[in-house]
Amino acid sequence: MTDSYYEHLFGVKDKVVLVTGGTRGIGYMIAEGFVRCGATVYIASRKPEACQEAEQALSKHGNCIAIPSDISDVTGCEKLANEIKNREAKLDVLINNAGVTWSEDIDRFSEKAWDKIVDLDGKSPFFLTQKLLPLLDAAASQASRAIVINVSSVNGIRPSGLRNYSYAFAKAGLQQLSVQMAQDLNERNINVNVIAPGPFKSKMTAPLYADEKVEAEVMQGFTMGRWGATEDAAGLAIFLSSKAGSFLTGLIVPCDGGSTAIG
Ligand SMILES: NC(=O)c1ccc[n+]([C@@H]2O[C@H](COP(=O)([O-])OP(=O)(O)OC[C@H]3O[C@@H](n4cnc5c(N)ncnc54)[C@H](OP(=O)(O)O)[C@@H]3O)[C@@H](O)[C@H]2O)c1
Repeated sequence: MTDSYYEHLFGVKDKVVLVTGGTRGIGYMIAEGFVRCGATVYIASRKPEACQEAEQALSKHGNCIAIPSDISDVTGCEKLANEIKNREAKLDVLINNAGVTWSEDIDRFSEKAWDKIVDLDGKSPFFLTQKLLPLLDAAASQASRAIVINVSSVNGIRPSGLRNYSYAFAKAGLQQLSVQMAQDLNERNINVNVIAPGPFKSKMTAPLYADEKVEAEVMQGFTMGRWGATEDAAGLAIFLSSKAGSFLTGLIVPCDGGSTAIG
């Protein structure tokens, strides 16, 4: 296989990509993959210092621009979309990755723990996609479809034992929402797929590897017995965004070392 054919199949060079929650964890892993493959990558998260640090680190590998944003409500989604519209004429790939979780005993689980998680993990992928549709439309054609990837969780497919009720609800809902959006946006040449991660080391999962004993127990629950790596998250997102993945839409893809399928 020649380098140019490889680039034709899997290349994302020259694509414009937005990764929400791209300042750390899985979002950072995905952003790094796209930057290193030559895309122009926008990342967004709430904390300006985190944005600045991630932009600096990722810019060592290529083009990365961070835009501090809180996308937990429609106004925040619209603001971020307008920032991108001011800079770009099209958006090839939107990765709705930003998410939060909350675990609490069922007897004490509060309305705040419900609304905060559902607003970000469930509602914001819809409204950010809605506000960015003009830019996605501008990138989309039958030959080169625009791509939306919503990051859910294997916890949206099966219970985790973590008592994170609103998170499981939001991630399962996000999956069904994505399939519905894939159907509705198909005629606009926009693919919508879901990556459902298994275990990846991040701030969100830090309590699960803070202690060796706990970490060993957590790993026993996953078929390959290891944490996901940058290449696992970035590789799948890049594949779904490339020519090689363009015939795929409306899919929920667990990125969990086979645990959901065979664990
Ligand atoms: N790690 C795992 O094992 C795992 C497993 C399954 C699913 N997931 C999913 O993968 C995604 C990434 O998780 P992660 O583990 O990488 O989490 P993480 O390390 O906590 O990162 C979350 C990211 O989202 C940003 N964020 C949080 N609230 C935001 C808001 N209101 N507006 C904009 N950005 C916001 C955070 O930055 P700021 O704090 O600066 O806003 C950060 O960049 C989430 O959707 C999560 O549910 C993760």
